[in-house]
Parts: sequence; C-alpha cells; structure tokens
Amino acid sequence: MERIVEIEKFTAEESVENTLRPQGWNDYIGQEQIKKNLGVFIEASKKRAEALDHTLFYGPPGLGKTTLALIIASEMGTNIKVTAAPMIEKSGDLAAILTNLDEGDILFIDEIHRLSPAVEEILYPSMEDFRLDIIIGSGPAAQTVKIDLPRFTLIGATTRAGMLSNPLRDRFGMSFRMNFYSPEELARIVIQAAGKLGKRIEHDSALEIARRSRGTPRIALRLLRRVRDFSDVADEETIRHERTLFALNELGINDHGFDEMDLRLLELLVQAKGRAMGLSTIAAALSEDEGTIEDVLEPYLLANGFIERTARGRIATPKCYEVLRFAAPAVQPTLFEAP
Ligand SMILES: Nc1ncnc2c1ncn2[C@@H]1O[C@H](COP(=O)(O)OP(=O)(O)O)[C@@H](O)[C@H]1O
Ligand SMILES: [Mg+2]
Repeated sequence: MERIVEIEKFTAEESVENTLRPQGWNDYIGQEQIKKNLGVFIEASKKRAEALDHTLFYGPPGLGKTTLALIIASEMGTNIKVTAAPMIEKSGDLAAILTNLDEGDILFIDEIHRLSPAVEEILYPSMEDFRLDIIIGSGPAAQTVKIDLPRFTLIGATTRAGMLSNPLRDRFGMSFRMNFYSPEELARIVIQAAGKLGKRIEHDSALEIARRSRGTPRIALRLLRRVRDFSDVADEETIRHERTLFALNELGINDHGFDEMDLRLLELLVQAKGRAMGLSTIAAALSEDEGTIEDVLEPYLLANGFIERTARGRIATPKCYEVLRFAAPAVQPTLFEAP
C-alpha cells in the first residue's frame, strides 16, 4: 500500500519532550491571551458541532506551537494528523492526506512556510471550499476532477510568518503570535515537568533554570534534564539551588541563556563599536540566511533589549555591552552610524 501520511519521526530528544508535553489547558502555562481566545472559539464550534476555523501559530521555535495543536485536538475530541511541509513533496501527497481525513479531523502542518507552490495551489480550494481539484491526464485530453472533502481544520505552524504567501495567510481564520515566557512562567513549567520526572525541585532552582532559558520552554526543559542528571549522580532527592548553579556553570550556560549563535551575533555587533550593521552583512558574517536571523535569532534579543533595529541596521544596546563585559563606545552608539 502507498504511504498516506508520514507521521513525524521522533528523535530521542523529542520523545522525552513528548512525555513532558502538557495534555490540556491546565498544564499549558502562560500564553494567557491565546488560551482565552482559543477556549472561546473551541467552545463555540463545539456548540455548533462544526469544525474549528483554520488556525495558524507563528513564532520562534520551542514556544509551544505543536503542543497547542495537540491540545486543540484533545479539547475538540477529534483526530489529528501530524505532518510537516517538507514531507509533502508533490500535490499528490497532499491529495492523499486530504482525502483520508474524516469529518472534523485536524490536519497539522508544521513548518508550513516550506510548502511548494504546486502544493499550496491544491491547498487553497481545499481550505476554502473543502474541495479538491485534481487534473487528470495532460494536453487537450486533460480533465479536472472535483472531489468533495470532509470539513476539516488545518492548523499550521511556522517560525517564519513573513515567508507565507499572502493567499495562504488569508485563508486562516485565526492566527496567533506566540510570545516568549516570563521567568516566573518558565519556573512553573520547570516545576511541573520535574514532577512528571518524579523529582522535587526548589523554587529557586526552577527560577535559576528559567532565567537562563531564553524565554523558551523547550530550552528550560532541556536544562532541567541536564541539571537533574547532576542531582541524581549526587543522590539528592530534591534539586537544590547550589546544585543547580553548579550544574549550569559546569554546562557553560551563561546568565542569560544565550546560545552560541546569539553570542556570535552579539559579539559581532559589539565589535562594530556602535556602528549599525545591515542584515545582509550579519548574515554573511555568521554564514546564516537572513530569514533565520530575523525570525529565529533576533526576536528574543530584541524583546529583551540586547539589540536594536534601526533604519540603518542592527546595533548593540548598552545592556548588551554590559552583559558581554565589553566597554561601551564612549559616544552614543547612534552617533557612530556610518554616513
Ligand atoms: N505553555 C507551555 N506549558 C508547558 N510546557 C510547554 C509549554 N509550551 C511548550 N512546552 C513544552 O516545551 C516543549 C516544546 O514545545 P513545542 O510545542 O514542541 O514547541 P514548538 O512547536 O513551538 O517548537 C514541549 O516539550 C512542551 O511540552
Ligand atoms: Mg513544533
């Protein structure tokens, strides 16, 4: 038989992640506005016994997009098929997925900005009219066959909202931007996850991990697992604050949770001594594509005031010089901008 849907293959890391994944609203912490709105829309569609509107989640990796899609399915009491855009290579792949959906099912497409134009072309009428237009044959003998589809809900997730085509974006009835989490929220996530791992943790330890996690649950949970290893080896029942500090330092996790890419970007800007640096120059220096820098790397640094975006490019803020322990340029950075 032909392959219909390739369900995500989970790496070891992802399968641990799955055991820590919230099962419902109660253990999904933070993103209050999104939860409130979604709650209303879910209740309304259940009352009307209709499928939920197509929904888009966008924002940096690890903030809980996939988790939300799974929670929606469980709240709606429907099936969910999970796939990612790179797995849908041909329009026939998508047609096979769509025709195998049942009434009310949810189709989750991760990294939806990576769909090919040919596949998108099929997706539009499916989302709008729940109809598939398939062309059979070619040349003068070609025929369009219309197939009715069940009313389904498409949930898309992307780190790169800017890369979605307008027609695709317009066909989502709702779209939600994910926010970074506060240290307090991340600490609650860490405490809850520690519980699931069967480990007690001091509040200060959880907060310490939270502060160094770049506002991101996925990073917080990863750090928790590493810190837990140190604690287990030391035969401690509770993850204590001193052990946490020791472990995080051993692991080389700095105070702000910057990863290697963050540090390379910040150091680059700091070395520009207050001159603004354009996105393309940064991309070339870091050998990264511009989109990844804009959508994955920069949002956290901007949201926390480590860098600023000016008309001429990016500059390091005084806070950035301070945390990198670099002397700030004597003159206000903006005065340094190239003519
Ligand atoms: N609001 C939240 N509350 C608790 N855990 C969360 C929350 N958001 C994400 N997580 C956890 O963080 C990890 C990454 O979340 P995921 O939904 O896979 O992120 P994304 O799809 O946005 O990259 C998962 O293990 C999930 O359990
Ligand atoms: Mg995901």
